[in-house]
Amino acid sequence: AIDIRNLRNQTGLIAFDPGLGNTGSCESAITFIDGEKGILRYRGISLDALQNHPNFVEVALLLMFGKLPGKAQYQRFSTSLTNNANLDEDMKHHFAGFPRSAPPMAVLSAMISTLSCFHPEFLELEDATQVERAAARLISKVRTLAAYAYRRSLGLPYNYPDPTLPYVSNFLHMMFSEPYRQYSIDEDVVAALNMVLILHADHEQNCSTSTVRMVGSSGANLFASCAAGVSALWGPLHGGANMAVIEMLEAIHKGNMTAQEYVALAKDRDSPVRLMGFGHRVYRNFDPRATILREVSEKLLQRMGRKDPLLSIARKLEEIALQDSYFIDRKLYPNVDFYSGIILRAIGIPTNMFTVIFAIGRLPGWIAHWYEQKRQSDGKIWRPRQVYAGNRQSAYTARTERG
Ligand code: ACO
Repeated sequence: AIDIRNLRNQTGLIAFDPGLGNTGSCESAITFIDGEKGILRYRGISLDALQNHPNFVEVALLLMFGKLPGKAQYQRFSTSLTNNANLDEDMKHHFAGFPRSAPPMAVLSAMISTLSCFHPEFLELEDATQVERAAARLISKVRTLAAYAYRRSLGLPYNYPDPTLPYVSNFLHMMFSEPYRQYSIDEDVVAALNMVLILHADHEQNCSTSTVRMVGSSGANLFASCAAGVSALWGPLHGGANMAVIEMLEAIHKGNMTAQEYVALAKDRDSPVRLMGFGHRVYRNFDPRATILREVSEKLLQRMGRKDPLLSIARKLEEIALQDSYFIDRKLYPNVDFYSGIILRAIGIPTNMFTVIFAIGRLPGWIAHWYEQKRQSDGKIWRPRQVYAGNRQSAYTARTERG
């Protein structure tokens, strides 16, 4: 890579890189990716190492503060997650303003912005202690907000968080418990959901993380920056792809078309259809997250004694695509979204909540990047240039004289 720092003040020099695929926007020590080899490491630690005892809270601390937490930090942060899990009563009232059919990502983005109003003490974060407290608040609240958004969409009452439950189990309780029937925690489900969240926790300068850094570069607070990240994540070419994958698999399952016909359509350059959950800007090889999630989905279904026809269809699509020169030549392989939905379905999470789960997982990564950028001494406001392609000068015609 060419380091252009020394050229910064040369006027007139603009690197034209639509989609920014070849632009390094910052220096970062959070996540390492080797797209050619299919390697992903958090602070240097491989995903394989994190698989054995999947613990999302531990990984969140690793990403945000640079190393695996010691006992004291882990305990302090976990207690803070528990203490911050409930919502301010006034904040709950905001939900009444949304129609039941509101897309959960819209609700999540709006409610994360609203945290700026309810917790003004966290708008200025001066040191690591304050960042840790703000992070605990945000990571804890986001799960309650997500669960309540889901329950309100069904007309169900708010479930108070249970202080005896750890992070992921508490989320499942807030989603699925009923006053007359406490959700029964299954450790296999908890481990699978922990792994899903871990695998989504960071992925260097993807669209939503770059958005968080972009917004943060103006000095905007953590809540505002992460709310922008949620909006960026929503799109179907980014986090929204996990919903699109299930919609694609369901369409094939309903018999609208065969797997072969779908792949043919995805290859047709005149059609807007893509093989959802395939392809990645950085990976030119297997996305290591997809490999793990395929295994997790198979194991979870087996342990639950369930079969999901969508898993067989996904395997079939993968088999066809991996033997097809269109996908081989373009180096298109399954990405993180291809198998995650199968796991979420098995857990009972509805499709319209999939991208919200992605957001819960990605939050520590957004916070880590926001905080890293804040500490960088040469931090400048992000302000890319453009290559202007319009008229240089046009005459103004009065409205009365226009046709
Ligand atoms: N199905 C069919 N063709 C594809 C696919 C796909 N999933 N992905 C890329 N291609 C083709 C493109 O049509 C293009 O073909 P061409 O060279 O003949 O014009 C070529 O591969 C390169 O595609 P680009 O869109 O230029 O690649 P880019 O790096 O910009 O896009 C992206 C990456 C957005 C992930 C793309 O592969 C895609 O749309 N995939 C499907 C959506 C998806 O799964 N998104 C989730 C990504 S992971 C994440 O955000 C968490």
